[in-house]
Amino acid sequence: MIKPPRIAPSILAADFGYLADEIARIEDHVDLLHVDVMDGHFVPNVSLGMPVIASLRKVTNLPLDCHLMTLNPDHYLEPLKEAGADLATVHIEVFPDPSGVAEIARDVGLGFGLVINPPTPFEAIEPFIELADMVVVMSVHPGFGGQAFIEAVLPKLERIRNFVDSAGLSTDIEIDGGIDPGTIRPAREAGADVFVAGTSVFRAPDPVLAVRELRNAIG
Ligand code: DX5
Ligand code: ZN
Repeated sequence: MIKPPRIAPSILAADFGYLADEIARIEDHVDLLHVDVMDGHFVPNVSLGMPVIASLRKVTNLPLDCHLMTLNPDHYLEPLKEAGADLATVHIEVFPDPSGVAEIARDVGLGFGLVINPPTPFEAIEPFIELADMVVVMSVHPGFGGQAFIEAVLPKLERIRNFVDSAGLSTDIEIDGGIDPGTIRPAREAGADVFVAGTSVFRAPDPVLAVRELRNAIG
């Protein structure tokens, strides 16, 4: 069953010089914080790592939803837990069989999620959905904020929603990339319950108003 919508601002679009202030501004108005970890290998960009996550943990009680765009994400699960992360999501493209990495996440006490890129078909993730607390449907190619929403992923999102519902699972379904007041609605209709929004929140003149506009668009 689809849950009430939750908004997860992506700090990739925030001003890293003022991260604590940027978070304090929106903290009471959002549900999770989406943290994009990039290593310059799995994606052609480098973002942030454990020291920043540990600092985030000190300034907010929001759940930290850490999206691992790295090679060997399994190597980072224990350090992530120690840094204070709540959930780690790994790409099915990195682990075509993610059973082992899911087990490591459980062992270290982290929530576990699977991320699927735009060109990767539903069938790649289908056998493993039950391992995940969250499935993340990428609606941009990972690596950069501020890209345009790829509408062609919506049928795949719908299939994931149908799978989760028919299997009686409570898996969260998150959509990541290009979410704004215009794209959040079709994503909600296709079955997403967690919405990552970077640019549309942190680059808005008033981020709190921007979050409200996202909620209103699907209200
Ligand atoms: C892209 C990241 C996204 C990104 C979303 O690789 O996974 O989380 O920060 O940013 P916007 O909302 O700007 O598309
Ligand atoms: Zn992300």
